[in-house]
Amino acid sequence: MTKVVAITGASSGIGEAVALHLAAQGAKVVLAARGEDKLNALVDRITAAEGSAVAVPVDVSRRDDLAKAVDAARQHHGRLDVLVSCAGVMPIGPLNDLAVDDWDQMVDVNFKGVLYGIAAALPVFRKQGSGHFINIASTAARKTTPNQTVYSATKAAVLALSDGLRQELAGKLRVTVISPGFTETNFPNHISDDKLRAQMREAADEFAMAPKAVAEAIGYAIEQPEDVNIGEIVIRSLNQP
Ligand SMILES: NC(=O)c1ccc[n+]([C@@H]2O[C@H](COP(=O)([O-])OP(=O)(O)OC[C@H]3O[C@@H](n4cnc5c(N)ncnc54)[C@H](OP(=O)(O)O)[C@@H]3O)[C@@H](O)[C@H]2O)c1
Repeated sequence: MTKVVAITGASSGIGEAVALHLAAQGAKVVLAARGEDKLNALVDRITAAEGSAVAVPVDVSRRDDLAKAVDAARQHHGRLDVLVSCAGVMPIGPLNDLAVDDWDQMVDVNFKGVLYGIAAALPVFRKQGSGHFINIASTAARKTTPNQTVYSATKAAVLALSDGLRQELAGKLRVTVISPGFTETNFPNHISDDKLRAQMREAADEFAMAPKAVAEAIGYAIEQPEDVNIGEIVIRSLNQP
């Protein structure tokens, strides 16, 4: 694979696994997240394995930051072929808690962050005449449970956004939405309530798959012939009902 791929949320979990997997396949990866130290460590790891990676500090809730990530791809490689929007947060809790700051953060990162990525990359993709948006939703987009309501709503929004984008861009650009189930990452640590965090950890212990599985699904979508679009991949561990 010789594609130039920008990945938000690349500093840990699924985004990190995507970066490692695609770089090992020969992609030139542009790593975007807020945690610069982690991004730089990942760049070192990929370059030590003779891969190509650059880091760009990005807060996806800031529109201009996404433009910086896309610009970095063009400056280093002259183009951007794929944008993987993976940055996400899950400070879940009951609506009754009225944790409005957490609601804002989930909307800003999980949903608006994806929109800002589209705003930054779409003009570049249009000019190139090719490009691929890959957005990370969740199985929680279709099946919510108490305490996860706002998180699920942001992921349902990503699902709808991705399907509408796919239809609007049909014949021109590719759009894929990936809906993972429980995945072994830092995600339970986003939850401040001790009891709820312990419950999520327990569920993760029972059901979670390795982030590499999601990374490989993304690689599959990218490697299809240019006239083939994988619209959605839903991927869970065998244990998850
Ligand atoms: N783990 C699961 O069970 C699961 C299941 C379904 C879907 N997902 C989705 O998978 C995606 C990745 O999550 P993960 O499980 O890999 O969790 P994770 O290990 O906590 O990774 C989250 C990533 O998002 C980045 N991020 C958070 N806020 C950001 C911001 N404002 N700007 C830029 N980057 C930001 C983090 O980097 P910094 O903190 O360095 O910015 C980190 O790289 C999320 O969209 C999540 O909703 C996860």
